[in-house]
Amino acid sequence: MNFEFFMPARLIFGPGKVKEVGVNAKSLGKKTLIVTGKSSAKKAGYLDVVTKSLEQEQIDWILFDEVEPNPITTTVERGAKLARENSVEFVIGLGGGSAMDTAKGIAFAALNEGPVSDYIAGKPGGDALPIALITTTAGTGSEANNYAVFTNPDTKVKKSLKSPRTYARFSIIDPELMLTVPKKVTASTGIDVFFHAMEAYVGRRSQPFTDALALEAMRLVVENLRGACEHGGDIRYRERMAWANTLAGVAINLSGTCGIHGMGHPLSGIYNVPHGESLAAVSLAFMRFNIPEAPGKFAKVAEVLGVDVRGLTLMEAAEKSVEALKDLMDSVGVPRSISAFGITEKDIDELAEHAFKWMTHNLEVSPKVPTLEDVKKIYRESL
Ligand SMILES: [Fe+2]
Repeated sequence: MNFEFFMPARLIFGPGKVKEVGVNAKSLGKKTLIVTGKSSAKKAGYLDVVTKSLEQEQIDWILFDEVEPNPITTTVERGAKLARENSVEFVIGLGGGSAMDTAKGIAFAALNEGPVSDYIAGKPGGDALPIALITTTAGTGSEANNYAVFTNPDTKVKKSLKSPRTYARFSIIDPELMLTVPKKVTASTGIDVFFHAMEAYVGRRSQPFTDALALEAMRLVVENLRGACEHGGDIRYRERMAWANTLAGVAINLSGTCGIHGMGHPLSGIYNVPHGESLAAVSLAFMRFNIPEAPGKFAKVAEVLGVDVRGLTLMEAAEKSVEALKDLMDSVGVPRSISAFGITEKDIDELAEHAFKWMTHNLEVSPKVPTLEDVKKIYRESL
């Protein structure tokens, strides 16, 4: 066994914990920028809960509520300018992955000159403002790792900013905040959790510690995603999906994702497809391509997905994982073809070249490293 385990974010988990944001944030400073989406945290009343808790601890706040789905680098730069102009001492991200990632980006860009895209491309960065995160969805795992994914509006490249300084000082995972998440978002964020876990598990960076987290995260998704979609107001499903999300978020912090994210991000970058749906759409063809390289791992995935593997060879069991995942995705209504987003045969070359050029770091840690032709084939099979 060879592995390292490093998890610097403090995770505060439990129903009602959002009310404790103020008391936990006190040590981070006296003035904060709250980063959130355009409406959902406001409409659901969570923003009021957060601001009240901050005010009780005499923490001043200003609001940046311009986060869009699939956030772009220029939004981050606008938020960072606001943070600098107002001399905020720390940043709070309130929302799903987009809001949390943007909060990380703003905290980083506030103290690092020049375009964010340069740092995403590998320019060494410095310090960042302290970050606190409050997740309102069970997806992305952003609260438990230092990834912050942005699209460059000029190049359409969607890629992660990853700095040792973009871990949260603390993250609040309060399943009560997830009770009102609509069914469609529950499904697409929940399936993202499954792919974080599965990619961390089958990918070349997998290791014993994250395997344990990933298997449990997959099991929880299989057992609870349908319930969370059908009975969104039931805290038990929300709690287990939130726990799955956090486990998978820690797993990718150490083992990363591989080719499903590598081929999904271009769909979001170019066509603005919601993240989880972009992954679902390429996942089955990706699995068929990779199974011969890691049958033992995919056989285990099949087992977690509920396949009775007794009497089957490893390869037979592994192949059953595709059908079982298809059933799970169908049961929660996640689209599983890229034609659902209007993509046709004529778009395949551009998509594949984009993925091959920009997502190499993900593609090359897949069980079977794809060539450009392989990437085209996987997209084509996903039509
Ligand atoms: Fe993801």
